[in-house]
Amino acid sequence: MKKKVLVTEPIPFHVKELLEREVEVELWEQADQMPRELLLKKITDKHGLITSKDQIDEELIKHAPVLEAVSNISVGYDNFDVQALKENNILATHTPYVLDETVADLIFGLIISTARRIPELDRYVKEGNWTHSIDTPMFGDNVHHKKLGIIGMGRIGEKVARRARLGFEMEVSYYNRNRKEEVETKYDVYYEDFQSLIATSDFILLMTPLTNETYHLIDKDAFENMKESCFFINASRGAVVNESALIAALEQKQIRGAGLDVFTQEPVDISNPLLKMNNVVTLPHVGSATAETRDEMKQFTAESMLKCLQGDKPESLIKELK
Ligand code: 8YV
Repeated sequence: MKKKVLVTEPIPFHVKELLEREVEVELWEQADQMPRELLLKKITDKHGLITSKDQIDEELIKHAPVLEAVSNISVGYDNFDVQALKENNILATHTPYVLDETVADLIFGLIISTARRIPELDRYVKEGNWTHSIDTPMFGDNVHHKKLGIIGMGRIGEKVARRARLGFEMEVSYYNRNRKEEVETKYDVYYEDFQSLIATSDFILLMTPLTNETYHLIDKDAFENMKESCFFINASRGAVVNESALIAALEQKQIRGAGLDVFTQEPVDISNPLLKMNNVVTLPHVGSATAETRDEMKQFTAESMLKCLQGDKPESLIKELK
């Protein structure tokens, strides 16, 4: 009898076909997230679950007596209760490598858009305000040769460092739980402690996963120690930042601006003050959102799920289960 897999994200036909060669697939094809109650019903006879947002926790595992593997169409897996997965011998995979360059592109787009005020000036022109030469009040800030501080030097951080060093001759430092000597040598970047990086960077990029340790890592104190000319960029997870502290820092001009691809609540609420600030560039969590990369992520996820159900441990297994 074929094993059963529930997929709660839209997937392209060729990925569905790949899965159906080996397993029975039940698809949730709507863009909106599957209602939790329905998920808890449908998971009861499933051996595998492919998702990207569903909370994989004790409650879900209690409703899934034959579940063997969960696969995230995402490199981040803060939706996984890793301890519960371990205790129940359920394998879990994510999508490292395939999205690194795509997310690094978006991050540089955020850095340049924020510093050069591209969305704001685009609106300015489209609203018919360009009636005379642009003067100082509309000027932006240089990116080249400035200092970029990366908090969280993982695979994506490394790709950003390469772009910054080789493409923009920026000074690049990083803060990370462990040193990355190979990246330091490869791209001439240097390790710096958290406080010093925060206090001296022109651009601060947040690229850490969301864990109990990194929750609200960037708080009121951090913003108070940043340069007034600093631009804060977040492409990791919203809750790594204390969003009220960010809003206060912007309102009190403690920092110059922010570029945000992630928020504490997603989709972000229209009443969020960040959406009314001209010096804040806001994006709807599109770091990896290119047709090519999302397809690759879904293909990679399907392959990982099939390997798990065949009893293998794929390279995409989350590190806590390796
Ligand atoms: C995902 C992401 O698309 O990979 C990640 O960690 O944040 C994005 O690439 C997103 O998580 C899907 O919900």
